[in-house]
Amino acid sequence: MPVQHSKASLLAFYTDALRNGRSTGENLRAPASARFLALMAALPVGLPRHALDLGYGAGAYTLALAEAGFTVVAVDQAPAEPLLQRLSWREDLAERVTVVESLIEQYPVQEEFGVLVAKDVLHYLSRADAEALLGQAVQASRSVNVHYLEIFTAISRTDAHGAQIHIEGEARYTPDSLTRALKRIYEGWDVAISWDSHTEQDARSKRTYFEATRATVIAVRKCPAAAGIDALTGREAS
Ligand SMILES: C[S@@+](CC[C@H](N)C(=O)[O-])C[C@H]1O[C@@H](n2cnc3c(N)ncnc32)[C@H](O)[C@@H]1O
Repeated sequence: MPVQHSKASLLAFYTDALRNGRSTGENLRAPASARFLALMAALPVGLPRHALDLGYGAGAYTLALAEAGFTVVAVDQAPAEPLLQRLSWREDLAERVTVVESLIEQYPVQEEFGVLVAKDVLHYLSRADAEALLGQAVQASRSVNVHYLEIFTAISRTDAHGAQIHIEGEARYTPDSLTRALKRIYEGWDVAISWDSHTEQDARSKRTYFEATRATVIAVRKCPAAAGIDALTGREAS
């Protein structure tokens, strides 16, 4: 029988890690990845310069988006003050960022965002909530939009005694079920998914406590002006 961890314990874990700058296996303080920065550098000109960062954590992707000139709505359930403090050292960026303390599944996506980022967070939601959230963003889309998602599937989390850990209500996607969900959500968009194996180890004992197959998803709302992004999704220009 897997050990169940509550959503409250998840919030407590991230609140503590972010407030106290604790190092976690996920490396929350890491800057935005080279892959994401390459995507940012190749965005089409007509894309709305307004972005949504879901589950921003320490804010690396929010800061990268603001540095690229986007206004950003950054949403996380964890207290806002660590990111607000980070932003207080960067007044030029602070004026472009709105920090929202909320469950992302309760954040109503009612406006269009040129870029949506959801990195290492959607696996914590139920499938229904994750799909409804992305579906709202698709519905709000009017012009060229790019969604950048990193989603864990086939997760195996173990405690020190080797017992499996499940988190209350989490999606538990497999690569197949996630692929099917993305096809439904992004009907008519250009979607590229790449897969890699991801592991996290305890810094002291070196015990591997987290293993998963990670999907990196770049979904582009098709539009003639989006031609420049095809090199990133790996698709032929249509
Ligand atoms: C692994 S961190 C990822 C942080 C950031 N996206 C990054 O990659 O650097 C996961 C973040 O998601 C947040 N989170 C988890 N479940 C959430 C939910 N249902 N609503 C809002 N935030 C959530 C956590 O508080 C944490 O900050």
